[in-house]
Amino acid sequence: MRDSFNILLLPGDGIGPEVVEAARAVMDVAAEHFGVELSYEERKIGGTAIREEGEPISDETLERAKASDAILLGAVGHPDFDRGPVRPESGLLKLRKSLNAFANLRPVTVVPALLETSTLKKEVVEGVDMLIVRELTGGAYFGEKVEGEEEASDLTVYTREEIERVARVAFEAAEGRKGRVTSVDKANVMATSRLWRSVVDDVAGEYPGVRVDHILVDAAAMFLIRDPKRFDVILTENLFGDILSDEASMLPGSMGMLPSASLGEPGTPGLFEPVHGSAPDIAEQGTANPYATILSAAMMFRHALGRPDIAGGIERGVSVALEAGFRTPDLGGEKSTEEVTRAVVKWTAAGEGVA
Ligand code: NAD
Ligand code: IPM
Ligand code: MN
Repeated sequence: MRDSFNILLLPGDGIGPEVVEAARAVMDVAAEHFGVELSYEERKIGGTAIREEGEPISDETLERAKASDAILLGAVGHPDFDRGPVRPESGLLKLRKSLNAFANLRPVTVVPALLETSTLKKEVVEGVDMLIVRELTGGAYFGEKVEGEEEASDLTVYTREEIERVARVAFEAAEGRKGRVTSVDKANVMATSRLWRSVVDDVAGEYPGVRVDHILVDAAAMFLIRDPKRFDVILTENLFGDILSDEASMLPGSMGMLPSASLGEPGTPGLFEPVHGSAPDIAEQGTANPYATILSAAMMFRHALGRPDIAGGIERGVSVALEAGFRTPDLGGEKSTEEVTRAVVKWTAAGEGVA
């Protein structure tokens, strides 16, 4: 087991710096508790990088990212750049592409402490435990774009190989879970979705222990709210995964609860970030929910650093803090980012005895 790691921190814009600072405090205490050494480097991305370095991500930052063991990112995006020629978000897309981070894992779980925070009925969300596997480096995000005054287009392209590799990630995850993959597409309209469906069926043949079914994305959006417990692993393309994961955040009750891991080929650094954005409406108020970023740091220990023990320690700290009622306003609470962070730090440091 390795015990020393280089982490690149990319706080970004809006609430990004607030939630990354919180996660760093938890990583520090977890590192101390488990006896590992973390060395951090911090760089700019997004609107902050446009302002200070003239571009949303510099080549040097991309190089440092590739040379790190893992990257923890806050969020990018700022209203100041909504009409500008260069958008902060393009820095994040470039980073994902240059790491070849094609598989984005977005777990959605509803722990008992959050039953009251969901806008849905308790019996609908109780026990929800699903994993959204979102393809992250293809589709309309990266196809050719035409942007004119009178006409615009975003080309959606998928190759067999791109679908195969992300499908394998989903099937392998399902093998370690409830053994079920639901592939979500729009095969009644889109050619890329018809290829997607047939490649997923081919890959399914390699995993006889996993049941697969296919549903259309519009129906998936409905079932996610009507009966979320029917899902184990959801496998879907880039754009559908983006939309469905924001919808799924309402199962635990807030965008501030969903972490993510973006992974490429084995041996390459993973990128870990909350599912939410820079939340300009609440930035710099000290009230941002840090749980999603803290849980992303836990995913980093599990998926990139080979330390599931440390991941478990952080996750335990989070669940004890939630059980003890430490909630930011988005969860109906009154605690600040700092108070929640202090609680998670305390219970992560306390170790196994507490949960
Ligand atoms: P958002 O996720 O930033 O915010 C949506 C709503 O959820 C807001 O009301 C916000 O206050 C709330 N929210 C989000 N995270 C929260 C948290 N941790 N704690 C408490 N409340 C939270 O989405 P948006 O408003 O549509 O986008 C804002 C900007 O963020 C845009 O520029 C967008 O492109 C960018 N964005 C970035 C990422 C990313 O960096 N990965 C993801 C999504 C959106
Ligand atoms: C996300 C975000 C990004 C995406 C944006 C900021 C480019 O919404 O990570 O979900 O669409 O992938
Ligand atoms: Mn999104």
